[in-house]
Amino acid sequence: MTTDKPEYDGRPAYGYDAPVIHNYYSLHNSEGTTGYLLPHLKSGMTLLDCGCGPGTITLGLAQVVAPAQATGIDIEPGMIEQAKAFAAERGVENVEFQQADILNLPFADNSFDVVLTSAVLEHLNDPESAVKELHRVVKKGGLVGVVNTDWGDPLISPENESVSRFFEIFERGFNLYGGSLNRGRHARRWMREAGLDVFEFKAQYGNASEPEAVQAAMEGFIGWVENVPIFDQAIELGWTDAAEIQSIIAGMRAWSKLPDAFIGTGRTEAVARKP
Ligand SMILES: C[S@@+](CC[C@H](N)C(=O)[O-])C[C@H]1O[C@@H](n2cnc3c(N)ncnc32)[C@H](O)[C@@H]1O
Repeated sequence: MTTDKPEYDGRPAYGYDAPVIHNYYSLHNSEGTTGYLLPHLKSGMTLLDCGCGPGTITLGLAQVVAPAQATGIDIEPGMIEQAKAFAAERGVENVEFQQADILNLPFADNSFDVVLTSAVLEHLNDPESAVKELHRVVKKGGLVGVVNTDWGDPLISPENESVSRFFEIFERGFNLYGGSLNRGRHARRWMREAGLDVFEFKAQYGNASEPEAVQAAMEGFIGWVENVPIFDQAIELGWTDAAEIQSIIAGMRAWSKLPDAFIGTGRTEAVARKP
């Protein structure tokens, strides 16, 4: 079985077991993260969300495709528990969540009308194989949606060394496992090579310009520095040290309080059909 679950010191290297990270992703919803896909969805379409995290996006999409079934899979058991709890709390019945690897989906060929993945391919050393799995399980004529981070050129004003160092160390940590936060621009090629007919592909920026949004964005990033094992590993590997990490956190927090602080981070959004 192929699997892609990098670990460090007994924990998932990307920190997806940490409640603070579950909370961060539970702020995502179907309108904000998969708005590009919504115009293509209709009641009655069966849907699979790969790497669904705490399931808040899947739950929104389940309501759009109802009464058809929506399914969310994630490699992290804690994410699946959280997703099931949200589904029960919100009374969404046409949804199920199960633990699975996007590289080895436990579904037959041609199973779903819509298959999507959001912010997951960045973690993999072989995103092309994951896209081939999406292609395999979607029905002929069905839709595939892919959101992929591209932080290769974040817009940061005023420029700030602490914020830039955060991006640099985080990307280096992803690279250690063959992942990257900077390759969303390549997603259309992966999809075409898997046999999909990509009919929409564009870059978008998530913007934080109001003081509350900038501070919330930085506190989210600081939560990652404090909870994602990649940053402990960065210290162990000598890329940084504990003192620099503390100074990066203080610098990010101080920067986020500047009156003109602005940050924009990119992603690509693709919609394709299986011919
Ligand atoms: C950045 S979060 C994105 C969550 C959600 N899709 C969103 O956009 O808010 C990435 C998710 O991918 C999951 N993941 C990472 N590698 C995976 C794999 N090989 N198979 C399935 N899920 C995976 C993680 O556990 C995590 O929940």
